[in-house]
Order: sequence, then C-alpha cells, then structure tokens
Amino acid sequence: TKESYRMPDGFLWGAANAAHQFEGAWDVDGKGISIADVMLAGTKPWLNGQAPAKYANATAAGLATKHRLVTDQVEEGGNYPNHRGIDFYHTYPEDFALMKEMGMNAFRTSIAWTRIFPNGDEAEPNEAGLAYYDRFFDKMLALGIEPVVTLNHFEMPYHLVTEYGGWRNRKLIDFFTKYTRVVLERYGDRVSYWMTHNEINNQAQYFSDHLMLQNSGLKDYDESDAEELMYLASHHELVASALAVKIAHEVKEKVGNPKLQMANMIAMNPIYPHTSNPADQMAAYRAMEQTYWWGDVAARGEYPKWLLNYFEHHNFKIDITEEDKQILAENTVDYVAFSYYMSNVIGADDNPWIDFRLDKNHFDNEFLEKSDWGWQIDPVGLRWALNWMYDRWDKEMMIVENGFGAYDQLESDNSIHDDYRIKYHQDHVLNMERAVVIDGIPVMGYLPWSGIDMISASTGEMLKRYGFIFVDLDDAGQGSGKRYKKDSYYWYQKLVHSNGTEL
Ligand code: BG6
Repeated sequence: TKESYRMPDGFLWGAANAAHQFEGAWDVDGKGISIADVMLAGTKPWLNGQAPAKYANATAAGLATKHRLVTDQVEEGGNYPNHRGIDFYHTYPEDFALMKEMGMNAFRTSIAWTRIFPNGDEAEPNEAGLAYYDRFFDKMLALGIEPVVTLNHFEMPYHLVTEYGGWRNRKLIDFFTKYTRVVLERYGDRVSYWMTHNEINNQAQYFSDHLMLQNSGLKDYDESDAEELMYLASHHELVASALAVKIAHEVKEKVGNPKLQMANMIAMNPIYPHTSNPADQMAAYRAMEQTYWWGDVAARGEYPKWLLNYFEHHNFKIDITEEDKQILAENTVDYVAFSYYMSNVIGADDNPWIDFRLDKNHFDNEFLEKSDWGWQIDPVGLRWALNWMYDRWDKEMMIVENGFGAYDQLESDNSIHDDYRIKYHQDHVLNMERAVVIDGIPVMGYLPWSGIDMISASTGEMLKRYGFIFVDLDDAGQGSGKRYKKDSYYWYQKLVHSNGTEL
C-alpha cells in the first residue's frame, strides 16, 4: 500500500491566491493604482533557453526572469496583465462554488490595499472597497470556506512609492497600521487567520529591482545603496508588522473572536551547502540566516547579534529606535505562515562576513529536477524546512503556498492532463504528512498555490499556470475566460475528502 497519513481533525485544506493576480477590475469601485498595475508583462527566462553569459548563475538560480518593466503611470495600450487577472472580482461566487465542490475548507487571498485606501494616505477609507470584501468573505463563510487573509501581497498603493519613496520612509508604518486597523475592525469578527506582508524576505535578493519594488516599493535608487535600503525598508515593515499583531490582539478582545491570529509570511526555500566542506556548511548556514532573519525578528522579537554586527561592519544606518525594539519584543507573531516552492544550493567564497548573494554563488543540485522556469523541485526540503523552522521559532505553522508553475494543454474534450502537477503535490504532501505524524510538527493547514489559474507574479504570464482549475485565457488576455477542471482538481478533491490518506 502507498504511504500516507491522516491529518488531525480540523486541518485546513485549501488553496491560495492574491488579489492583484486574479481579481482584475483594477479601476473599479474607487480602487487606486497599485505597484502591480504599472507592471508590464515579462516572460520566462530566455525563451530560447540560452542566457547571456553574465546571467549564467542567475539562470541556475531560477532568477533570470525577463524583467517586467515598470511604467511611471498607467500608459495607454500597455499590456498590464494584472488589470485583467481572471476577473475574479466578478466571478468569485461561481469560482468559490467550484472550490467548495473540490472539498476545500479554507482559502487564502489578500485584500487589495488600494481598494481600501486608493492612494494609501487618505484620511478615510473607501467604503465601496470595504463593502466589496464584506460580500466576498460572507460568500466564503456561507460555503464553509475559512478565509485566510494577507494584508500586503505585492500590491501597495503606487502613490506611496512615487510620493514617499516606499518603505524606506518611516511614514509607511502609519499608513499600513491605519489600513490594518480599518480592515481588522471591519472583518475581525469573521476572518480569523491573518498575515501582514507576503514573502517579506524575498528582498534578501536586493540585487533584483523587481523584488525590491514588489516587497518594499523601492525604485529609483543607486545600485550601491540597494542593500542598506533593503534593510532600512525591512525594519520599517517589521515594526509595522509587530504593530499589526498588537492591533489584532486588541481587535480579538473587542470583537470576541478568540481564534483571531496574525503571522508575518515568509518565502521558505532551503539553502543547502554545495559540498561537505565545512566552509560550505558555514556559508549555507549563514545564508539561511541572511534569508530568514525576518522570521527571527517576527517570532523572537529581536534582531540576531550577527546581523547587528553585519550592519556595523557595513556602516549601514538602520534607525532602530528604543521604542521600535520594545514594539518588536512585545508583539511577536501568533503563528508562522510560509510558501514553499524549491530549494537552492550555494558554495563558500573566502569572505568571513559571508555577504550571501543567490545570484553569485549558486549551484545546480544534481539530485533535483527543475520546472520549466528553473525552479528546483525538492519535496524532502519541505519536511526539512518544517523541522528547521519549528526548532527555531517554536510556533504552529501554516503552509500558505506550494505549487508547480507549468504549461497546460486544454484538450478538445476540455480535459487537462496535468499529471506533473499531481506528482508535485503528492510528493510535497507526503513530506508534510511525515513532518506532522513522524516528526510531530504542528501544521495547521495546506493551502497550495493555487486553486485556480492566475497571473504569475514574477513574469506576468498567464501561461505559467498553477491552478487545479484551468482558466481559458492567454498572455495577451485572449480567450473565453471559461473554467475547466484539470485532472489535479479530481486528485485534490479525493485527498481532501480522505483528510490526507488518499494520496
Ligand atoms: C510567490 C508569491 O512568490 O510565488 C506569489 O507569493 C506568486 O504571489 C508565487 O505568484 C509563484 O510565483 P510566480 O512568479 O510563478 O507567480
């Protein structure tokens, strides 16, 4: 018999998405322009398969995505895929019905910040935006689907970038916490699982202008300032996140929802040493810390000493006040939410300070295969990561993304045979189950990316598909927009109904 394990009662089986990637309706009901609304479509790395030599390492790391160009404003005739999404803004009742039929009892999405505060700095929120999410969450709850909500998922108001310089500006803390208070007070009675920033640690790759804009609204800076700016912006985001935890705890009392809890979400891609050479071990160990220290601050409430030394060594001025320290210490996260897609391998150089850069000393893993986009597929790494994080942070955990971006073929009978996606999820779910049952790690739920096809965040493609439900649209937004069930839809349905045993 095939190995599989039953998950604990109440386990959340769902899927995940983000407002800017599937809602469309970018200028409807008073919505403002977000950073995703000024990003043109990109492509997968080097469609002819050959990267220019200077990008060779970046390609190995799956990083050489052709950049999505960013325009100063929304330009007539530009291909802005997030303007369209899959029109979920209007189709959510039917789409949620399909997900319910799949058996899901949870669904993660984000609130588009620009529907609530269109520019980010208004005195009053936009009531039409608030009313929309009232209907949206009520629909989910009526179907028995638990909402899991991200506050800031790569879609901050563009105005906060152009007028304030993004998160480098301390004022962003106030704008974010105001927005947080408004939505928590509005939905906190019904929505229990929250997270502040999506994949806050992606900006560890501060050499990528795409990730700097996505995470922190950082644009128009000198490359030589990028690393320091990234740490400064991150600090403001972490203080804002801790204040959001504080607000959540106040609202929890006020509305009487004892389940209400807040995480700060990270992208977890384990980093392995290239060889058993102790220097490689040390480099990979510190690279893990340089990539996951955001989690340390959020879960432990203080900066690790090696990082404070690192700031001093580089003469980075991070502006960590005494008040900030107290806020961080008093408001650690309630649980850990993370995405998991792949793992990486790095080797040492001879710098004792280990200025880790994934684009510089990355290696292919000879034991792993890659997706068409160069992401190294590593199911065992998920079990490894769950153990690593639990040892370190000692909190319950929720897997809020895990998935396989691939080209799918819609057959003439409207079927889609995505056995590669089923295999990806089978292997990852098995490793999650081993972590839960054999290792004893408390995992609250599995919310793969994604229930339904949508726009890729890194490339803006529609054809990099992740869903269990196929959406008939292409990269130019052409197609019927109709929904079809993939083979993975039926597979996931059985898995959920058997609470993890029919793998
Ligand atoms: C994560 C993001 O990085 O991975 C999602 O939180 C994103 O927004 C997902 O869509 C998959 O990445 P991509 O670039 O293939 O869409």
